[in-house]
Amino acid sequence: MGQTYHTGCKNEKDIAIAVEHLLSRMTLEEKIGQMSQTVGQDITYIGSTKTEYKMEDLVAEGRVGSMIQVAEPEKLVEICRKFQDIAVNKTRLGIPLLFCQDVIHGFETVFPIPLAWACSFDMEKIGDAAKTAAREATTSGINCIFAPMVDVVHDARWGRVAESGGEDPYLSGEIAKAIVKGFQGEKLGEEDTSAAACLKHYLGYGAAEGGRDYNTTEFSRTGLYNTYLPPFRAGVQAGAGMVMTAFNVIEGIPAVANKWLVNDVLRGELGFDGVVVSDYNAVMELLEHGVATDEEEAARKACEATLDIEMTTSLFWEHLPKLIEDGVVDEKLVDEAVTRVLTLKYKLGLMDNPYRHMRAKEIKEKVFCKEHREQSKRLAQDSAVLLKNDGVLPFSRDNTVAVIGPFADSTDLNGCWAFSFHRKETVTLAEGLKAQGVKTLVAKGCEAENEIENGIDEAVAVARQADVVVLALGETDRMSGEACSRMQPVLPKCQDALAKAVCALGKPTVVCLFNGRPLVVNWYAENCNAVLECWQLGTETGDAVAALLLGDINPSGKLSMCFPRDIGQIPLYYNYLPTGRPTNEESGEHFQSRYLDGSATPLYPFGYGLSYTSFELSDIRLDKVRMRTSGSAKLTVTLKNTGKCAGSEVVQLYIRDVAASISRPVRELKGFKKLKLQPGESCEVCFEINEDMLSYYMPSGEKVLEEGKFLLMVSTYATNPNTLVKELEVYANK
Ligand code: NOJ
Repeated sequence: MGQTYHTGCKNEKDIAIAVEHLLSRMTLEEKIGQMSQTVGQDITYIGSTKTEYKMEDLVAEGRVGSMIQVAEPEKLVEICRKFQDIAVNKTRLGIPLLFCQDVIHGFETVFPIPLAWACSFDMEKIGDAAKTAAREATTSGINCIFAPMVDVVHDARWGRVAESGGEDPYLSGEIAKAIVKGFQGEKLGEEDTSAAACLKHYLGYGAAEGGRDYNTTEFSRTGLYNTYLPPFRAGVQAGAGMVMTAFNVIEGIPAVANKWLVNDVLRGELGFDGVVVSDYNAVMELLEHGVATDEEEAARKACEATLDIEMTTSLFWEHLPKLIEDGVVDEKLVDEAVTRVLTLKYKLGLMDNPYRHMRAKEIKEKVFCKEHREQSKRLAQDSAVLLKNDGVLPFSRDNTVAVIGPFADSTDLNGCWAFSFHRKETVTLAEGLKAQGVKTLVAKGCEAENEIENGIDEAVAVARQADVVVLALGETDRMSGEACSRMQPVLPKCQDALAKAVCALGKPTVVCLFNGRPLVVNWYAENCNAVLECWQLGTETGDAVAALLLGDINPSGKLSMCFPRDIGQIPLYYNYLPTGRPTNEESGEHFQSRYLDGSATPLYPFGYGLSYTSFELSDIRLDKVRMRTSGSAKLTVTLKNTGKCAGSEVVQLYIRDVAASISRPVRELKGFKKLKLQPGESCEVCFEINEDMLSYYMPSGEKVLEEGKFLLMVSTYATNPNTLVKELEVYANK
C-alpha cells in the first residue's frame, strides 16, 4: 500500500513516462475508479438508486478518483485530509484524490458575481480575483475548480446568466483566459496555490429555450462555431486543465454522449488534451433524454464520447467492466481517459505531495484577509454600472440619506454559488454609508418577495425625514443561479409598490439594484433620478456602493448583457445577424423587423454605462485602406475626458463583415481598452486589426477570412449613434 509510483516529474515527458508506467500496473477496476467522482457524504448513486454507502469504504476500495461537495466550509480541509489519507495509505497504489468545487466568484472572500465582474472590462482585476479565489481554496483541499462558466447568454430569464460573462463571445473569451491564468498560474501546478480550471458547460447550455434551466437547446453549426465555442477555444488556448460537458443536447445528442462534440471538436479541432468531466448526474440523465435504453447503454455512450470522469453517478463503475469483457467497449478508451486523469494529478503536483492543497495553517492568516477583501472591494467598485443620472449623483456627505428597501441593511448580497462561512460579515449598504460618516436612516419596507405589515408606511415616514432617498431593491441570492429561472425578470410586486410610494414624496431618489440578471426596469428609469446597477457585489458590497454614491470612486462599469424594455423582446443581444428588413423604427415603414406594441431596442444596450465625467472619441485613423488577408492594419482614435473629474472609459472596437459567404452579425466586439484620464486629458487608443479578428467559422468548422469590405467601428457602447467608423478593404494574398 501507499505511494509506489514515479514522483519528482519535472516536465511533460517525465509525466508521460510515469503515467504510462502507473497505468500498466493498474487493474481495470482501479482504472475505472479514476473515472468516478463522488460527493463527500455517505451516499451515492448506484445505478438509478440512491444508496447509503460508506464513502470511506468506496475510497479505500479504489472506486473513487475524485470528489466534489466534500464537506461544509468549516470542515472542508479536515475531511479532505481524511479522504486523502485513505486514498494514499489504504488503496493498493495510493493514488491521491482530486478535490473539486464550484468556486465561482471567490471562496471565503466573495467577489462580484461573474455577470457583474464582466462589466468591469478589467481583465487584470478579474484574473487577480480568480488567483485569490484559488489561493484561498487551495488551503482547504480544493485543487480543481468548476469555473469559469463561459456560456454565452441571451436570455435574462435564465438564472445562470449570473454565473456567465454575459452576451458577448469575445468578452467571455477574454474573461476565460484571465480566469484560467488566475486559477492555474502561468503553468498548472507550479505553485501550491494553483488549481485546475474547468471550463463549463460544453456546449451551448446558455441557449436553454425560454430561459428555463435544463431545457433543450437548438442552434446551428454556424452559431456553435461563432457564438458558443469561442470562449471555450480561448480557455483551452490558455491551458485550462478541465472541461465540463453541458446538460443539453447538441443536434439531438446530449453533450456528455456526443462523440463529435467532445472527441472531434474539443479534443480534435481545439486541441484540448485535459480532462473532460460530466455534469452532475448527466450520464444517468441520458435515459431521461431518451438516447439510452438502459444504464449500460448510457455508460457505453459516455465512454465512447471520450468522457473521462463521471460526476456523482456510478454507471461507469457498474457497467464498463462487463462492456469491456464482452468486447463492446474498447479498453483503450478507458486507458486514454485514465491517462488524462493521472496526467492532471501529476501536473497538479499531487503525486509528489497529495497534501499540498491542504495548508490549514494558512487559513487563519490568508483566507478572508484584509488584503483580499480590499481586492474584492476594488473589483466591486469597477463592476457596478451607472445606468441613469440626472445629476443627483454623486451626493454630498452632508445629506441625510434614507436607505429604503429589502437590501438596505441586508447581507444577502453575495449572489449564487457563495458558500463563505463569513457571509454574515458582508458589508451592507447602510453600514457602508455610515462608515463614511453619512447620516443614514434605514427602513426595510418589504421583504424581497413579500410585503411587511405597515412596511410601506414606515418606510415613507423614514424617507420623509431625509434629503436623499436610496432605494435598495433587487433579488435575493436564491433568485438567480442554477435552477432559478424566472418567467418575469422584474422586481417583485411588493418592491414596486414600496418604490412607488417612496418616489411619490418627490425627494431626490436613487435606485440601487442588487440582482443576478438584467431586469426590466423601465419605471425606475423614468421615475428615479438615478439608477445604479450594483448586481451582487460580494463581501464588500456596502463599502463599494457607498464610495460610488458619494463620488469617492467614479463609476466605470459597462453592461456585459443588455437590459430589455420588455420580456417579449427576449432573447435580446447586440450582435444579432442582420435581417432582410432591418429595424428602423423612425421610418414608419410597415414591413420591417419590429413590434407593433413597443420598441425592439434594449433599454440599455451592451457596453453601456455612465460616469460622473464625460468622454469624447474623435479623430479615427486607419494606417491603410486595403489590407492583405495575412496582413494587419493599425486603427487609432483619440479619447478625451471632457468633464470635470477623473474617470475611466472603455473604448470598444466592433467590426462588421459587410458581405460574406454567410450572413455575419451587424456588429461584433473585437477589442476593448479601459483607460483612466484626468479632466481635460486626452490620449490615443490603438487597435491592431488582423486576420484573426476579421475571420469567422463556416458551419464546417473551417476558419475563413474572405476578401471584401469591413466596417471598423469604435464607440463607448454597442449601439452608440456617435460611433466612429472606418472602412477597410481586405484582399487575398496572391
Ligand atoms: C451542476 C452545475 O450545472 C455545474 O455547474 C456544477 O459545477 C455541478 N453541478 C457541481 O456542483
